Amino acid sequence: EKGTYPHFMLKEIDEQPFVIRKIIQEYQDKNDTIKLDKDIRKAMKKSDRIYIIAAGTSYHAGLVGKQFIEQLANIPVEVHIASEFSYNMPLLSENPLFIFISQSGETADSRSVLVQTKALGHPALTLTNVPGSTLSREADYTLHLHAGPEIAVASTKAYTAQIAVLAILAVDSARAKGIDLSFDPLQELGIVSSAMETLTDQKEEFERIAKEMFETSRNAFYIGRGMDYFVVQEAALKLKEISYIQAEGFAGGELKHGTIALIEDGTPVIAISTQGNVNFSIRGNVQEVAARGANTCVVSMKGLENDSDQFVLPQVHELLTPLVSVVPMQLLSYYAALHRECDVDKPRNLAKSVTVE
Ligand code: F6R
Repeated sequence: EKGTYPHFMLKEIDEQPFVIRKIIQEYQDKNDTIKLDKDIRKAMKKSDRIYIIAAGTSYHAGLVGKQFIEQLANIPVEVHIASEFSYNMPLLSENPLFIFISQSGETADSRSVLVQTKALGHPALTLTNVPGSTLSREADYTLHLHAGPEIAVASTKAYTAQIAVLAILAVDSARAKGIDLSFDPLQELGIVSSAMETLTDQKEEFERIAKEMFETSRNAFYIGRGMDYFVVQEAALKLKEISYIQAEGFAGGELKHGTIALIEDGTPVIAISTQGNVNFSIRGNVQEVAARGANTCVVSMKGLENDSDQFVLPQVHELLTPLVSVVPMQLLSYYAALHRECDVDKPRNLAKSVTVE
């Protein structure tokens, strides 16, 4: 039920701080340590390479998950678009573990990969919001996202839930391997939850920015580097699917290799800057497009901000920034679609779960 909300999407954006808290609860045991199926721990420990398989928004969550697993647990990870993997399987390592990320658990492209990898005898773990779903039943292990039903076609709370669960999984695997981490994901997710709340409390601000950026535009660019590059890809997908504005999420440094030719007077370019090591360089990329007439908007993280930034995000752990930087992006898309009188919850040509290949 939508309750007092005009759209499920807005309700689901607002639910994100609670979903994160729910995940903390569900994955915390009595001693405040991580509670996770022992068999999943073993499977992670045993694997020499992880293959994340997903589509759309879940694929974007997988890109972030790769950073967690590689940086924290020191296991190499490849992230693949399910529909490509099916027909172009890469060389596999000796002991692969397949992780399927799927809100619905019914995505046919992902299922087709699971059928193939099972036939090869490889273990599979599904991260899903629907535990009884096909991908969950057919995999060896399941991690539940606990996001509650997601009704709007555009995925929001499932994406942040996927990233939160991937962070917990990565840390658990690191600990299982005896890696000593100072990063406590449950505590850091608590900080994320509060940060998300301060963002969902500032909707007028994002409504205003959406109006300024997208009122008359036919296209838009999002740029970021490192972690932010993954989030801008999700930001662009969100804008495209509900507002029908053609958008692209680009690596900041890659623009000058061709795409910058598309920048004209007034082209909207939204940049995210949450990573200390690339803060300087992404700002250089913003100047490059501004000098060519782009209408720029910088969303930065506290501690890295400039006076001219349009919005400053509350500070969270550098690894977990996608969980907060995506919230303004979701809201910008929502308001862009609203102003254009699009059907926010049921965009054209799309279905909630894609059960055909
Ligand atoms: C975008 C969106 C889709 C899904 C994709 C995968 O907002 O909803 O891109 O993320 O179809 O769906 P699941 O996660 O159910 O496998």
